[in-house]
Amino acid sequence: MRLVLTHHRRFRKAALEETSETLGEPRVVEEPDHSVTVVDVPDGDVRLLKTTTFVQHVAPADIAIEIDGSSQDLHRLLQAAEGFAGGVEGHFAVQCRRGAHSGGASHVEAEYTTRDVEIALGRPIEARGAVVDLDRPSQILSTYLGASTAYLGLSTGEDNKRTLVAQHSRYTQPPAICRAERKLDEAIDLWELGGDLREAAALDVGASPGGWSWVLASAGARVTAVDPGELDERVANHPLVSHLKTRAETLEFGEATFDWLVNDMNVDPPLAAEVLLRARPWLRPGGRAVSTLKMAGRSRPREVLASFVSRLEPGYALEASQHLYSNRQEVTLLLRRS
Ligand SMILES: C[S@@+](CC[C@H](N)C(=O)[O-])C[C@H]1O[C@@H](n2cnc3c(N)ncnc32)[C@H](O)[C@@H]1O
Repeated sequence: MRLVLTHHRRFRKAALEETSETLGEPRVVEEPDHSVTVVDVPDGDVRLLKTTTFVQHVAPADIAIEIDGSSQDLHRLLQAAEGFAGGVEGHFAVQCRRGAHSGGASHVEAEYTTRDVEIALGRPIEARGAVVDLDRPSQILSTYLGASTAYLGLSTGEDNKRTLVAQHSRYTQPPAICRAERKLDEAIDLWELGGDLREAAALDVGASPGGWSWVLASAGARVTAVDPGELDERVANHPLVSHLKTRAETLEFGEATFDWLVNDMNVDPPLAAEVLLRARPWLRPGGRAVSTLKMAGRSRPREVLASFVSRLEPGYALEASQHLYSNRQEVTLLLRRS
């Protein structure tokens, strides 16, 4: 089985190790981009990749064709997709991604956009009666445009690690306060946390300039934002946000004051773990925490993650961890107070 794996450029090895542990030893076919690896894996259940952290997205690569960046590629892709199109029915989506240098040309030089590909491949399928559904497609026709090769494959929505690449573009829309808020937006969507935030009490450590506090307050949570730095005026003036202009290490609260704890401090993992453990009693039993884990300058991301989780173990159970589309050299964790 051939797959296109996407990952942060520093997390390729970690993503391949995770793939090996879940699906068997991968054979690397091509590295068309620093954040994409095409692999052959022994046949297995691709849904197992849902448990991985450093694999960002997985797409099937059942067919490979040559491309050169000219508009002729659209015709070539359409022909190749014919093989799948007949099998697509119900709600579907076409997802096209491209490497930094695809079709022998850069983004700017190529004669077509990924959107052109999605439209060109989607139209004939629609014409057969299937319905485009970018939110909950039951089938996804994926296309990845590599350096001189395009990979195409069909998967079900359930098989995909992340339902949507469309989500990827959603998180690249301009944010309200700062780029960081996309991380929490994406975590809330991925782990379906939105329903629990209304009227909840949330502690946001490392809050400045206020993107996460903004996301929480916009979802109806009362937010205590902690950061020695300033908050954006719109966040500072939000009626549901109060700012404590101090370091997280100096905080004191009563037992079970908060339903949610979120942490995006740019500190080393041991200090982040210390702050989370200190804050544990302030979180109600069963309360949840979303935390980033910064990996910059660290060469063994899987070990950093494992050591962080084991440091937290006396106080928190890990529910999920993922390198989000919006994460740079870091991952995001969902924890529950144990
Ligand atoms: C990546 S920014 C956070 C961005 C924020 N999540 C947002 O959406 O606006 C990291 C922040 O952590 C804060 N920080 C670093 N060490 C801290 C500490 N010990 N206590 C509280 N905040 C800290 C920094 O001042 C900085 O504003």
